[in-house]
Amino acid sequence: MTTMNRRTFVATLGLAGSAALLAGCSSNDASTDVTTDDAATTDDSADEASYTLVKEGTLTNVAELGFAPFEYIDDDGNTVGFDVDLSNALAEKLGLTCEWLPNQAFDTLVPTIQQGGKADISIAGMTITDDRLEQVDFTDPYLNSNQGLITASSSTDTVDTLNDASKQIACQTGTTGDEWIQENLPNATRVPLADVTAGLMGVQTGLYSAMVIDLPVAQNMISQSFTDLQVLEEIPTGEQYAIAVSKDNPGLTAALNDALAQIEEDGTMDTIKQTWFGTTEI
Ligand code: ARG
Repeated sequence: MTTMNRRTFVATLGLAGSAALLAGCSSNDASTDVTTDDAATTDDSADEASYTLVKEGTLTNVAELGFAPFEYIDDDGNTVGFDVDLSNALAEKLGLTCEWLPNQAFDTLVPTIQQGGKADISIAGMTITDDRLEQVDFTDPYLNSNQGLITASSSTDTVDTLNDASKQIACQTGTTGDEWIQENLPNATRVPLADVTAGLMGVQTGLYSAMVIDLPVAQNMISQSFTDLQVLEEIPTGEQYAIAVSKDNPGLTAALNDALAQIEEDGTMDTIKQTWFGTTEI
């Protein structure tokens, strides 16, 4: 919060008399200052806990929605998945409701959050990386992940034979899988695609020799939607998923971290893991 904003905030706090009241206040601004009870105690914690939202009372999410089981559109046209349940649970702790913007290409998500004004957060199976940390803030991590190298079940390729210009290796544009190919299969012909399903479909039909994508997604999609694909290699990249938030909204990151800790503590996180992975050991 800038000094100016902070002064305005403290003044408003005095007027409203209590943080609880303030949280319920409406504002004429496009964005809304929200605070939690803790914010009433000292100026410093008020600074920490206040945040802005693009739409009052709403946690507006943006993601690429072809990433089952994290976020995808189900047969009824609903946006569902692990991240959707997680976002709903976090929003509930903050007294907000969730909205999801229409599908956006994965490589546009960080810029969208960085620019601001459209979505408050991107929760998209997104890995914390140094490059992204220059553009956005991340909450504490909520899940560990690795990459998977996917080939057709009938393929005789190995990691070594795939590192050749004659081999087309699919990935989702701008993902950590995309980066992994560039670093580890530099001789292969990389094929960046907007859509994970299109990549896996291409591997199944022989259009591409392989695809690199997050292991939990590969495992889910291979078992749910494909018959002739295999995880040739599990690649232990040791990635951590977290929620991307604008650097201009540190109070929201702090509030989400607080809510994350609460849902880890009260068992909600385990319930969500159980729902989407059939285990809490993930
Ligand atoms: N974890 C990978 C990354 O952060 C892939 C994420 C793709 N997410 C999606 N919703 N398509 O680069």
